[in-house]
Amino acid sequence: MTYRDKAVIVTGGSRGIGEGIVRAFVAAGATVAFCDRRADEGRALAESLHGRAVFHQCDVTRETELTGFIHQAAAATGRLDCLVNNAGWHPPHRPIDDFTAQDFRDLLELNLISVLIACRAALPGLRAAGGNIINIASLVGSIGQRHAATYVASKGGVIALTKALAIDEAPHGVRVNSISPGNIMTPLWRETAAATPDPARAIADGETAQVLGRMGTVDEVGRLAVFLASGATFTTGIDHLLTGGAELG
Ligand SMILES: NC(=O)c1ccc[n+]([C@@H]2O[C@H](COP(=O)([O-])OP(=O)(O)OC[C@H]3O[C@@H](n4cnc5c(N)ncnc54)[C@H](O)[C@@H]3O)[C@@H](O)[C@H]2O)c1
Repeated sequence: MTYRDKAVIVTGGSRGIGEGIVRAFVAAGATVAFCDRRADEGRALAESLHGRAVFHQCDVTRETELTGFIHQAAAATGRLDCLVNNAGWHPPHRPIDDFTAQDFRDLLELNLISVLIACRAALPGLRAAGGNIINIASLVGSIGQRHAATYVASKGGVIALTKALAIDEAPHGVRVNSISPGNIMTPLWRETAAATPDPARAIADGETAQVLGRMGTVDEVGRLAVFLASGATFTTGIDHLLTGGAELG
């Protein structure tokens, strides 16, 4: 119970990595408010957590919905200790010739601009509590990825935004870090594999891409998020690779 009686907000918490983060903070004793576009999964998850997590339906690309969710969640608990910006998407792989400028703008709205808006809305509460922000970026935001120019650029932006905010918010007592997962088996990973010509092969390749010889789990992302929030008190502006060593060698 390393985060007992703290209040946490998570975006995109209905499934995948976000669900793992919601469950890990609840297990650590926190009260969690999470949002998602997916209402059925979100409500079912909140119910299964017996009042320790509250679900709000919200599309993070809609600024008023996102800021409304954050203000409402912070007001309900009367404090805010941690914001986790997790909602995001990886479009199917294709060369740059097949992405439109509008595809890129839409992805930036989801993967990057929503992060800035959520941080801005949450910061008054986080400053008051001496809290912290965790942004979910991606390993490929640092090392690149084939046929994923828009995604890689959006996640590189998340890593850079994290560092810039860490500088600005340090005088206010707020730490800002990112987690860059490598291959974590989630519904999104399965959907991205299903869009390839040979999904079974894509999953097998994903499993063997790590020196640890397997993909990561959403629980493992959740546990790192709780550690960054509760125990890593001299850490700010750092991108934490959670990759099973996929980038090594
Ligand atoms: N799975 C991986 O291997 C991996 C690797 C690196 C980074 N990531 C990042 O981790 C995050 C979560 O990925 P995941 O694999 O769990 O994906 P996922 O699709 O399984 O889950 C993402 C959740 O975010 C929600 N969401 C998407 N768009 C939203 C919107 N506009 N408003 C509100 N909610 C929205 C979805 O409904 C879903 O519940 C993403 O930012 C992704 O880029 C994932």
